[in-house]
Amino acid sequence: MERIIQQTDYDALSSKICALQFSYLPPNKGTLSEPIDETLQSLYQDIKSLHFEYYKTLKEESRNVYGKINKLMRNPFPVMNYGTYLRTLAIDVSLIKFINSFPIDQHFQIVNLGSGSDLRFIQYLNMFGDRVERFIDLDFKDAIILKQKILKDSITLDHIIQSYRDKFVMLPGDLKNVAGTLEKLTQFLNPKIPTIFITECVLCYMTENDSKQLVSTIMNEFPTGCWISYDPIGGSDVNDKFGTIMKRNLMDSRNLEMPTLLIYNSKSNYPQRWDNGKSEIVIKDMWDFLSESISDIEKKRLRSLQFLDEIEELKIMQSHYVILNTTWT
Ligand SMILES: C[S@@+](CC[C@H](N)C(=O)[O-])C[C@H]1O[C@@H](n2cnc3c(N)ncnc32)[C@H](O)[C@@H]1O
Repeated sequence: MERIIQQTDYDALSSKICALQFSYLPPNKGTLSEPIDETLQSLYQDIKSLHFEYYKTLKEESRNVYGKINKLMRNPFPVMNYGTYLRTLAIDVSLIKFINSFPIDQHFQIVNLGSGSDLRFIQYLNMFGDRVERFIDLDFKDAIILKQKILKDSITLDHIIQSYRDKFVMLPGDLKNVAGTLEKLTQFLNPKIPTIFITECVLCYMTENDSKQLVSTIMNEFPTGCWISYDPIGGSDVNDKFGTIMKRNLMDSRNLEMPTLLIYNSKSNYPQRWDNGKSEIVIKDMWDFLSESISDIEKKRLRSLQFLDEIEELKIMQSHYVILNTTWT
């Protein structure tokens, strides 16, 4: 099962490369009506070259993985590209907002749990370098080994990593082993500094008990923190078959399980893992995010990229993906 779950990272990476190739990402200037639009533009400055460099090096490192990703990229559905665009943007908007909520000279730490091939650490270290005390990527051992190899084999990426070697840490581990995870994290983190945790499409692969324990242990251990979590939700309406179909498809095609898809199945149920009576929680689905946060001019640009005839399908799909933001002190 570990191997099957780990391979979902290839979906995430191929989707991102695809969204970059089809120019969904980076978003245009003026995408958000909020003042953070400018920060977002700087953050995305090198996103294309970084990912293409990673992808190119991956080809030399593992033909097998490269072949898998290439195959996934051959069928670029517009709804999939929209999904990647919204997911990427929503997480970065949340991260920037959390960072902006800290005093201007406040140092902070970022932990990407189940980071896979995500290259956010480069974007954030480039952008907020002085203030980022630590950036940790944690994933299964094989995922970390592959990522380390790729980063080392690319002269460009290795150069970047070297310049951040005191700040960036890649940790192999299994999130299901909560005590072990905590032990590893606390070796590198200062609990007195605000820490932002990210779980992007990760908790959905854990059981209810394991994911609950992971969240509550971290929230107890770190007195001041923020959490950004993105996942699919199965839907709570009796007529809503999204989760049941998704679960069946994943099982039939890959023998892959999403144990909590039908448990944390709605915007009101998803936050339960973080709700300790003290934390402040905000949750929205990706359709809300597209409708409310993205400017009309950017929506027009997105429509021009690929022909999308099924707006209803996009709406159904994106109403079943959520982003949660929470802070606790
Ligand atoms: C769908 S991928 C998402 C990768 C990355 N967060 C992103 O969105 O680009 C899920 C990732 O979570 C990792 N993961 C899932 N369960 C895990 C666990 N118990 N321990 C460590 N990593 C885990 C997988 O190995 C994989 O890299």
